[in-house]
Amino acid sequence: MPILEATDVFAGYGETEILHGVTMRVEAGELVAVIGHNGAGKSTLVKTIIGLIRPSRGRIVFDDHDITGMAPERLVLEGLAYVPQTNNTFQNLTVLENLEIGAITRRPGVLGQMNEALAHAVRFLSLRMTRRTAGGPEVGGRSARFTEEEFDARVEEICSLFPNLRSKLHVKVRTMSGGEQQMIALAKTLILDPRLLLIDEPSAGLAPRLVTMIFERIQEINRRGVAIVLVEQNARKALSMAHRGYVFEAGKNRYEGPGSSLLRDPDVGRLYLGG
Ligand SMILES: Nc1ncnc2c1ncn2[C@@H]1O[C@H](COP(=O)(O)OP(=O)(O)OP(=O)(O)O)[C@@H](O)[C@H]1O
Ligand SMILES: [Mg+2]
Repeated sequence: MPILEATDVFAGYGETEILHGVTMRVEAGELVAVIGHNGAGKSTLVKTIIGLIRPSRGRIVFDDHDITGMAPERLVLEGLAYVPQTNNTFQNLTVLENLEIGAITRRPGVLGQMNEALAHAVRFLSLRMTRRTAGGPEVGGRSARFTEEEFDARVEEICSLFPNLRSKLHVKVRTMSGGEQQMIALAKTLILDPRLLLIDEPSAGLAPRLVTMIFERIQEINRRGVAIVLVEQNARKALSMAHRGYVFEAGKNRYEGPGSSLLRDPDVGRLYLGG
């Protein structure tokens, strides 16, 4: 049974429709690549899945529950996670503080340790979340607070995945390299132990050596049992490590299949992989 199934999804911004009937699925434990030219609607798709955009038509099912139109703050408790294409860390906070904010929905006590202005902002956001989630049925039953031990165990799991973050937990994110910052963005979403991770262009702006390193980490996250939707401009590399892929064009999925088959497809090669 798929962990995610989007059926005939239409969505956009205001009056402008960008997705014109997207259908895709992700099996449990699968790594699925989404490729396509600039403006094809890839980011719009992941924003729609995570609930930042409400679809005008269609249905999105996660773990056998209809999540169409559900708010992101609810979905992260159900086991979905999203790494945006840009602005995906808090630059003026340390690595550990970023992890604490990633876990805020299950760690409200942490507010007391933050500076006044930040605590106010986070309190406002979590109040909003409490109101929206109150009374709703739980999909995964994961809204219980983390104990200190559970949080520490999550930090430990993340340090095993990104060993070079271990000695930098108290370093401010803005002083760190682009590759490290992308790792922190991943780490911040992994803290809640998601079952499906949506990652939007993790390799953007990174040197080739760091692209390889980030892709290896993404494969390792997937090997540890997290299903992944990976949106990438770096299409060859993404397809070569994906179980399956989708090629987007003008707001629709145009081709789909195993990553290796798409890499061999002459049309996909000519149109989307630079020949
Ligand atoms: N916030 C927004 N408001 C209005 N239109 C938007 C907004 N964000 C994106 N668009 C438009 O939606 C279309 C699809 O954008 P989207 O970001 O989904 O493309 P993409 O496939 O992710 O492209 P890229 O590879 O460049 O990231 C584009 O025409 C874009 O201009
Ligand atoms: Mg995009």
